Amino acid sequence: MCGIFGYVGSRTASPVLLDGLRTLEYRGYDSAGIYVPGYSPIKAVGPIDNLAKKIISPLSGTSGIAHTRWATHGAPTEVNAHPHLDMSGTLALVHNGIIENYRELKEGLVMRGIEFESETDSEVLAKLIGTLYKGDLFTATRNALSLVRGTYGIIVIAENDPNTIVTARMGSPIVLGLAVDGNFVSSDPSALLAHTKDVIYLADGECAIVSKDSYEVLSTKGKRLSKKPETVEWDIESVQKQGYEHFMQKEIFEVPEVIENTIRGRLMPGKGRAKLGGVEMVVDKLTALNRLVIVGCGSAYYAGLVGRFMLEEYAGLPVEVELGSEYRYKRNLTDKKTAVLAITQSGETADTLASIRSAKEQSLLTLGVVNVVGSTIARETDFGVYNHAGPEVAVASTKAFISQLTVFVLLTLLIGREKGLSQEEGTRIAEDLANLPKTLRSYLKNTDDIKRVAKKYANYRDMMFIGRKSHTPIAYEGSLKMKEVTYIHAEAYAGGELKHGSIAMLDENFPVVALVPKDDVYEKMISNVEEVKARKAPTLVVATEDDKSISGVADDVIFVPKVHPILQPIVSTVPLQLLSYYVGVEKGLNVDRPRNLAKSVTVE
Ligand code: F6R
Repeated sequence: MCGIFGYVGSRTASPVLLDGLRTLEYRGYDSAGIYVPGYSPIKAVGPIDNLAKKIISPLSGTSGIAHTRWATHGAPTEVNAHPHLDMSGTLALVHNGIIENYRELKEGLVMRGIEFESETDSEVLAKLIGTLYKGDLFTATRNALSLVRGTYGIIVIAENDPNTIVTARMGSPIVLGLAVDGNFVSSDPSALLAHTKDVIYLADGECAIVSKDSYEVLSTKGKRLSKKPETVEWDIESVQKQGYEHFMQKEIFEVPEVIENTIRGRLMPGKGRAKLGGVEMVVDKLTALNRLVIVGCGSAYYAGLVGRFMLEEYAGLPVEVELGSEYRYKRNLTDKKTAVLAITQSGETADTLASIRSAKEQSLLTLGVVNVVGSTIARETDFGVYNHAGPEVAVASTKAFISQLTVFVLLTLLIGREKGLSQEEGTRIAEDLANLPKTLRSYLKNTDDIKRVAKKYANYRDMMFIGRKSHTPIAYEGSLKMKEVTYIHAEAYAGGELKHGSIAMLDENFPVVALVPKDDVYEKMISNVEEVKARKAPTLVVATEDDKSISGVADDVIFVPKVHPILQPIVSTVPLQLLSYYVGVEKGLNVDRPRNLAKSVTVE
């Protein structure tokens, strides 16, 4: 939800700012803008390319700030695009977050005769800082922030002191990048990789004064804080397309490597066990839990539903799965033996974070399964597991979802072996998991069948996904992917639910994608496929390769390798991701940047 970027150094700033924005574009692409002291802000509606076209030759300054927007307050217009200026036109601000009391602040400023151009909450903050600015940008910023309620990651710069930028964080991520030819401020470390791996993550309530050769981290009260730089483990290649047409395609084809990275050093196939350094010290507590509550949003929530199935079925651990946007607002009945586990790729999702904070208020043990190292949820949870999936750039989650399922298998082995999962079964799971990258690598060598069916199914307006047991959440995830990447209206149900209402929608124009692995509910799923065929719905079945009779049952079949049942949902997900991807491409859509979305949902 909005990406902000700032630079102060010895290089020409405008190309550096544009490159930073391109990496942050996944955070929002309603509009973009840059400000280099000495020039007026340059802004454009739509993706960064539109902004780049307006900057015909680089601006001559060596510092500046930039923004890519996911609209919250005010339509995605040029006037509402950041950076916003104060009333003197010489102080500029970019903001990620929401200023909740902006109306009352604005009223006060309007009464003082200050005029506004945009409908945004962010311009209010720019003007407010402007009223308090007497030559010391940090003091003006922190005084303004003391009047603000809401969330922010901001960068501010003044024309008369172009060699200093001030940044502050409350609820929206800010990371400083330290390099030899200057220093950076970004919403996300991925945009820093082209320049440096040395970073400092700001925590809520922290600010920084950043100049070419130095930086200072301070509390909002002005107290100096000593923070050591950390090293980002990602490489620059991980945020480049590397020959693929789209990031989504690259990230799906990276899945074998992602599973390898997720399990590296964590599996003990001989013992049928897993070890996870980040939760090792609380294994006893996890084993003794009355209940584990998994909290997440979107795809991460669906990963949690699959995780529940794994942990209950194989580890005997009672699990509940809650949407972050629900858990945080409701009464949660817990006891001392309840732990709350946040599952999140970005580690910044506002509702998931708020849920963890609410669990902490109840003094519950909190855990995180997080991909982005150093992110807020990774920092605020008591214990956790990193996915090591590498940066996910496409807005629709693919490889991170697979990695989340993989972590749940590891957690199942870890907890399960303490709670009665036999060594033989543990070994079978661990061996199959260790082989999974190889299995999927060979599967991904030929995806022609999926491409072929995608061409056919791209012509429908509606689609339904069904599955049972651990494949019910995979049906949900398949339908979410289809919706967001192709804009096809897609629904998803547990197979057994069809008869209770939703089958009424089906006809020859409403195809059904059925997940039918050869498992203990295979016959039930076959009955569901027959039922939908009887309503003339076209059927596309994802079946395991050992299924010799399925071709006679469904109109189209996509075969997947057969693996241990706990791993089957991981394998079944891959063709669904590819199906959405190929349908999106077939429809000529921007699969990496679906409309109305942003990747990191840091607003509530
Ligand atoms: C869907 C998707 C979203 C995210 C959700 C949670 O493809 O990417 O539904 O899964 O916004 O994001 P994280 O995992 O960053 O908390």
